[in-house]
Amino acid sequence: MKELAGKTAFVTGAASGIGLGIATALAQAGMKVMLCDIEEKALSAALGQLRLTNVDVEGVRADVSLKGELRAAAEATIGRYGKVHILVNNAGVGGGGPFGAWTDSAWNWTLGVNLMAVIWGIEILGPLIEQHGEGGHIVSTASIAGLISSGSTPYNVSKYGVVALSEGLRGELALRGIGVSVLCPGFIRTQIIDSARNLPERFEGAVGAVPASGPIAERVQRIRDRVSQGIDPDYVGELVREGIENDWPYIFTDAEFEPFIEARFAAIKKGFDHIRKRNPKH
Ligand SMILES: NC(=O)c1ccc[n+]([C@@H]2O[C@H](COP(=O)([O-])OP(=O)(O)OC[C@H]3O[C@@H](n4cnc5c(N)ncnc54)[C@H](O)[C@@H]3O)[C@@H](O)[C@H]2O)c1
Repeated sequence: MKELAGKTAFVTGAASGIGLGIATALAQAGMKVMLCDIEEKALSAALGQLRLTNVDVEGVRADVSLKGELRAAAEATIGRYGKVHILVNNAGVGGGGPFGAWTDSAWNWTLGVNLMAVIWGIEILGPLIEQHGEGGHIVSTASIAGLISSGSTPYNVSKYGVVALSEGLRGELALRGIGVSVLCPGFIRTQIIDSARNLPERFEGAVGAVPASGPIAERVQRIRDRVSQGIDPDYVGELVREGIENDWPYIFTDAEFEPFIEARFAAIKKGFDHIRKRNPKH
């Protein structure tokens, strides 16, 4: 989508972090932006700040892991702006936990916010983008953890799902005039480590206490340090704008993890080499 000015974007998880960075970049490019988030106070603060820059933004509160609330937020967007051109499925939580600490509520929360909400976002807003015939774009926030898996497996499973969804739909939706990109950030300076602040009641027990010491405590602290020194989310917002304008399939924020992805590809290739050796006819 080359022409953004005057068009409308719907961004989830837009009250803070990467989502706010994306909403800011799109609003600064002249788009009307509907910011959707579960956290009402942060949402009104974000709207207040953005409006100081004379942009056309609106907010809607929704827990995107509830399909009915997401649908109502989409309807509110059409009610306010008439059309929607860009969908950014960005809301996400750092849920899950290591093997041995899994709970159903942790899996349900992580998959509900990080994956089901993305599926529903596309199911609900995809047709709204298609029907006006002016073209559009869908960006979904996965992670580098959607391409290499280590650490919290539930989180990785949710993010691999977002990558699979985006890769799978790219060709299919291109035929309908909708571009599809997947955002795979590295460490970004946000509040992701404190995701439990938005834990809906029905997922009670999804977040266990972090032990005071030991390998899990050290790992959590390491991630907290990396995130607190991470990339500026406003810069990520600019990258996403560029990715939409140029229809990039993958939007990366940095090259730190490229060698890990290459190592994964090499391991996969080795699997093929084994089978080729067993059966030279392949
Ligand atoms: N920060 C990083 O290092 C990093 C790296 C890779 C991927 N990501 C992904 O980026 C996305 C944004 O996270 P962030 O880092 O900006 O964290 P953040 O916590 O700062 O922002 C996430 C936003 O999502 C909202 N949210 C959470 N649950 C919600 C729900 N049920 N319904 C609606 N909104 C909800 C939060 O209120 C918050 O505003 C997530 O999908 C995350 O997995 C982050």
